[in-house]
Order: sequence, then structure tokens, then C-alpha cells
Amino acid sequence: MTVLVFLDPDYPDGRIADASQPQLKVTDTGVTRGDGIFETMLAVSGTPRKLRAHLARLATSAEAMELDVPASDVWERAISTALTVTDDDGDLVVKLVATRGEEGAGATAWVLVSPVPGGLRGRRLAVLLLDRGYDSTVGQRAPWLLMGAKTLSYAVNMAALRHARSHGADDVIFTSSDGKVLEGPTSTVLIARVRDGVKHLITPQLESGILPGTSQGALFTAARSAGWELGYGPLVPADLFASDGVWLISSVRLLAEVESIDGKPVTVSPELTAELGALVDSVS
Ligand SMILES: Cc1ncc(COP(=O)(O)O)c(C=O)c1O
Repeated sequence: MTVLVFLDPDYPDGRIADASQPQLKVTDTGVTRGDGIFETMLAVSGTPRKLRAHLARLATSAEAMELDVPASDVWERAISTALTVTDDDGDLVVKLVATRGEEGAGATAWVLVSPVPGGLRGRRLAVLLLDRGYDSTVGQRAPWLLMGAKTLSYAVNMAALRHARSHGADDVIFTSSDGKVLEGPTSTVLIARVRDGVKHLITPQLESGILPGTSQGALFTAARSAGWELGYGPLVPADLFASDGVWLISSVRLLAEVESIDGKPVTVSPELTAELGALVDSVS
């Protein structure tokens, strides 16, 4: 069952609405311009994971696009209402959306809770490297491109995934026009390097215009406590092939191991995947 709760000043705990019925005006700028932001998180046994990190990123995205969104405690109450109403005790996707709303009328904001789609997890991925067309310094030079914000304008990301699938691959790793590894359309890239018995976990640096992943952030904290050395790019495609493991990580699919890039195999390590997977599971 999908549960919908609008953030509405007249309803302190959120206004429950029927997700199977039309609810948005066709003139909402979220629809007409993709002008808005979102977050997608996982709830396990009725509790959202990494709630603080998701709400913090939502606030950062809102600030980047000068969007006035409800405060964190209002989101928290609406999330809690939605999770209380649902009759599903499996893992759930909790999506937060805020649009700029009707011209001049203020943000439209809602929480949507739905089951995790089947078949999403536990598969090794064939990945294509696709050029995103921007260089790796664009985020700092051109803040209006909103590179580090989680905006609703995901049509390009979805097109990249369709391109990969129509070429027999499962997912994408974007590269910059100056040849740096960036991120997946809906995930963060991780590699492992084991040198002289020391395990290194490395991700592209945020300054390259990528979204700060909450899963990567939480995994890095857990991995450091477990004795891993941490590193932040820059990475180039050759680093992926020379690594001891490549993964895409995100909040709902969690850790997904990459088995090939552009049709060429990369090292897979069931041991490292199991170790990192356990660390991901320990993160709440
Ligand atoms: C572009 C992009 N990068 C990274 C991520 C991973 O973020 P998180 O781990 O917070 O889900 C996402 C999530 O959807 C994303 O859309």
C-alpha cells in the first residue's frame, strides 16, 4: 500500500491523502518545471534510516535553490504519520518531495511511503561509463547548475539509465569531460584497494560536482571504526579497473557490487562485499 501525507500548516502531524487519486495541480512548478527537491530513504521495521542525514541534505538542497521548505520537525511528524498509517511491515521507501508550488503560493510538500520494489538488491551490476558533459570543476564555477543538490530534475539521470539498459547494462557511472569518475545516476561510487594488508575505501571527491551520498557518508563512518583507511578521489576510470572491488551505494538498493565496466570485468570480492554489506546493515 502506498501512503501519502501532505505537509499542511492546518495539520501539525501532516494531512493524509489518497495516493491513488489526483492530488497535485497541473500548474504546480514541480510539474511544469521540475522545480523542486526530493529525498529517498529506507525505513526498516517502521524506523527511517539516516533520517538526520536525509533531512540535512534536504535543507542543503533547498538552500541551494532558494526554496522555502518546512522545518525538519514538520517533516519528521509527517514521516511518522505515514509510517504509522502503513500496514506494511517490510522494508519501505520513504520519499520526501518539496516543489516550489503554484506561482507565488509557496512550497508544496509531501511524504510518500511505498514498498521496496522487488528484485532490486543483491545483483552484481554491469555498468557503462557515460560522459556527463561537464568538467569536474563546474560545481564550484557554476552554482546555478545545482550539481550537489537533489533536485527533481532527474530526466537526464533516467535517460542515462535507459541508455545503459538498451545497451545491455544495468547501471551507469558518469565521468566528467576531463576524465574523472563522478557518480551513478542514483548512487555513489566506491572502490576498495587492499595494500600491504591495509584496506582503503575510496569515493570521488565532493568538489567534482556530485551529490553527497548519505549511504557513503554513513558507511565511511562505520568503516573507519572497523579499521579501514578512507580516501576521496580524484578517481579516473583506470582506478576502477585497478581496484579490488567497485560498488554503487544508495539508500534503498544499498550496496551493489559492480562486475563489469563497459563490458570489461572488474575484480569482484565476495569477502569485501560481505564485510562492507555488514557495515551498511549496521548503520541506522
Ligand atoms: C545522483 C545521486 N548520487 C548519489 C545518490 C546516493 O545517495 P544516498 O546514499 O543518500 O541515497 C543518489 C541517491 O538517489 C543520487 O541520486
